[in-house]
Amino acid sequence: MDTTKSTQLFTKAKKYIPGGVNSPVRAFKSVGGDPIFIKRGEGSKLYDVDGNEYVDYIGSWGPHLFGHNPSFIIDALTKAIENGTSFGAPTELEVKMAQLITELVPSIEMVRMVNSGTEATMSAVRAARGYTGKDKFIKFGGCYHGHADYFLIKAGSGALTLGVPTSPGVTKANASDTLLADYNNVESVKDLVKQYRDQIAAIIIEPIAGNMGVVQANEEFLVELRGICNEEGIVLIFDEVMTGFRVAAGGAQEILGVKPDLTTFGKIIGGGLPVGAFGGKREIMEMLSPSGPVYQAGTLSGNPIAMAAGFAALSYIKEHLEIYVQLEKASMYLENGFKDNLKSVGKNYAMNRVGSMMCMFFTENPVNDFKSALTSDTALYGKYFHEMLNRGIYLAPAQFEALFVSTVHSKEDLDMTIKAHKESLENILK
Ligand SMILES: Cc1ncc(COP(=O)(O)O)c(C=O)c1O
Repeated sequence: MDTTKSTQLFTKAKKYIPGGVNSPVRAFKSVGGDPIFIKRGEGSKLYDVDGNEYVDYIGSWGPHLFGHNPSFIIDALTKAIENGTSFGAPTELEVKMAQLITELVPSIEMVRMVNSGTEATMSAVRAARGYTGKDKFIKFGGCYHGHADYFLIKAGSGALTLGVPTSPGVTKANASDTLLADYNNVESVKDLVKQYRDQIAAIIIEPIAGNMGVVQANEEFLVELRGICNEEGIVLIFDEVMTGFRVAAGGAQEILGVKPDLTTFGKIIGGGLPVGAFGGKREIMEMLSPSGPVYQAGTLSGNPIAMAAGFAALSYIKEHLEIYVQLEKASMYLENGFKDNLKSVGKNYAMNRVGSMMCMFFTENPVNDFKSALTSDTALYGKYFHEMLNRGIYLAPAQFEALFVSTVHSKEDLDMTIKAHKESLENILK
């Protein structure tokens, strides 16, 4: 495969952009080699600047539930743009969008639009702090909630210590309000709640984690979290930036049957444009300015072009709930194909899937938390990634990410992927 132009562009990019990219994972650092530069997307396919074609399973890291350039989103965008690109004033579409979100996700009574998933999670934590008058919050190892300072925290040494920054630039003061618990381990939460009684504003969790590979929270674990939050006056936040509108129209909370107090969204909610949102119980959301004292704002929040794309995406979902059956069928077909291949090469690698999100971990241990995810052989994933890329299959350039199936992946795409998977495994395990 010739990727000369991509390599040239990457060399030039590194001169002007830190690391040559505008978001780190795109640089292929954890799999080695140079990233490919994309020129165009269409349906299930991506085309790079050298003219190579790929079946895309990243889907812009989640937004493209309907593949690239679905006509109903392009039509909505074209119409919206004729009226202007931004007003910084209320529009009817924002009201329709908010109403539609509340219809699709019953735990949401009120919602505010923002511009990214990071903004959504930051704002949700602020709302929870304002509502409870408490400062600390609990997050789980292996969950990612965007790049706000107080999320870039890992567990310190010892079970009950405060978190420590994972990035220079994040202060110890910021880290001191972030408490780290273990995913799917309710005792770790109970210990923190006991130790920091009356100081914890929120528990934030990806109910189906997609940032340590795909790992689902046990239903009993979520039910216990709900109970702890009720008893202790803690706001339960589900970060559904990735799972929202992907695993079901009502997100992970629909299939897991536990209602959070607040939910954050991103990715699919913007139909491919930069959008996030957070919403939930009226009494918490009414804490936000201008109805309440908690400040939260945005020059481009609710931008009419972004709302047009997002509204088209969510309206399509509402009118075509059968897509989740189709996504399940296609994703299961892919999973079964992968599993047959694993059998044929004598490996029992962990394969986690929830609907159209899946991850094959290069470990034979079951993966149900961050610790078990970390037993994956990431170097082997790197080799596998390049074998797949060379066969025209575009996967996430890092082990601890999800593979996303869209509504437009055809049987032909899936069969080609299963064949490439088999050949790739055979090559890397030689
Ligand atoms: C679960 C989750 N929360 C928050 C974010 C941050 O969203 P954004 O990258 O739009 O800021 C991400 C991004 O991948 C995510 O997966």
